[in-house]
Amino acid sequence: MADQATVSKNTYAKGDRYYGKAAERYERKRKKQDWWHVEHEEMGRLLDQLPKGLKVVDIPFGTGRFVPLYRERGYTIAGLDASHEMLGAAERALGSEAFAACETTTGNAMALPYSDGEFDLLVSTRFLRDIILFEDAKKALAEFARVSRTYLILQLGEAIEGGRVPDGDEVWHSSMSADMNRELLSSHGLEIEEKRLVKEEADINSRIHHVLCRKVG
Ligand SMILES: C[S@@+](CC[C@H](N)C(=O)[O-])C[C@H]1O[C@@H](n2cnc3c(N)ncnc32)[C@H](O)[C@@H]1O
Repeated sequence: MADQATVSKNTYAKGDRYYGKAAERYERKRKKQDWWHVEHEEMGRLLDQLPKGLKVVDIPFGTGRFVPLYRERGYTIAGLDASHEMLGAAERALGSEAFAACETTTGNAMALPYSDGEFDLLVSTRFLRDIILFEDAKKALAEFARVSRTYLILQLGEAIEGGRVPDGDEVWHSSMSADMNRELLSSHGLEIEEKRLVKEEADINSRIHHVLCRKVG
């Protein structure tokens, strides 16, 4: 059983830091991380299992890092991000032709401007587990489940051993066990089809996966 102290209370959310220079540097800095590239490969493997030509929405869109994967598969692409400056960085990173192929919107993941089941697939990475507080992550998850008709790929952390449900004013991180995550997803009518490991840090009792979910309810 893991020492509960390894899943420390963390109430520092990073959601409002993606403006100005931070937006400009975002991708340049992240590309130096090994797991950035693992995330890309594992995203491609999951997308390969889905039909071609899907209507996808990526939230938060950030620099639109998975757009090349979506375009290779003939997807219709939408993206939402709270920061218009991140969308500007996306345009510079992707190039104007690829960016123009995406319908991008500034908005809040906790109150999406989309109708129920508007998309076949919703993708969300580097967000629910580390950018917002757990009370907001639950709201965003409800919104994600609402706007996707069939599939979701969510980046989630889980405790390797033990686990506990975070307080609403904490960041989710990898505090919950695999079963706790499964239960939360199930309460939104989501069933896990496959998990692909993108980062493991045993010293902090953390595994991070891309989780492919299917809507069943
Ligand atoms: C770590 S980046 C992740 C971007 C991208 N998904 C990725 O994997 O690189 C976090 C993003 O969340 C956006 N963000 C923060 N709070 C948000 C909110 N409430 N609604 C939508 N986007 C938000 C930030 O502007 C930033 O672009």
